[in-house]
Amino acid sequence: MIREANVLDIPRMNELGSLLEDNFSKVYSINEMLQDGISKVYVYEKEDILAGFIIATDLTETCDILSLIVDPEYRNMGIATNLIDYLISELDEDLKLITLEVSTKNIPALKLYEKFGFEVVNTRKKYYANGDDAYLMARESNR
Ligand SMILES: CC(C)(COP(=O)(O)OP(=O)(O)OC[C@H]1O[C@@H](n2cnc3c(N)ncnc32)[C@H](O)[C@@H]1OP(=O)(O)O)[C@@H](O)C(=O)NCCC(=O)NCCS
Repeated sequence: MIREANVLDIPRMNELGSLLEDNFSKVYSINEMLQDGISKVYVYEKEDILAGFIIATDLTETCDILSLIVDPEYRNMGIATNLIDYLISELDEDLKLITLEVSTKNIPALKLYEKFGFEVVNTRKKYYANGDDAYLMARESNR
């Protein structure tokens, strides 16, 4: 089941986020995002466990996916696919472009986004703190 996140989800989201980034809870202030009117924060629950989430910023013409994380125990079950589908279905009809940054080394995520028709439009050198490069990827929002 996918639903909007609420404050009670924040500790679990930070827990999943910290598997990826030590300072996840500082980089992503989920509490603020739940209230800012431009962020979309959705969680996927499986058997009452918060198994994954997606965070995006929805501006007038573009939506930027900021974070998409699935609990390692629940990967390869289609959860990320469901979260992206859900996000796209919730986007404004006037929205033109969906963008995201992803490490050039993150093969599972690159495959996932390619499956959704995202294309590399730029490379951001040393985008991440560890020196890794990022691809800027984009797709038209046509849903
Ligand atoms: C990337 C991530 C979100 C995928 O979540 P998931 O729920 O396992 O993904 P899905 O089950 O929906 O898989 C969808 C597609 O992703 C690709 N994919 C997922 N895991 C993969 C893997 N280990 N290797 C290669 N491709 C993979 C496949 O194309 C797959 O489609 P298919 O099942 O038709 O082959 C998950 O691995 C994750 O949380 N990784 C750590 C966080 C991260 O890297 N987030 C993205 C950075 S923005």
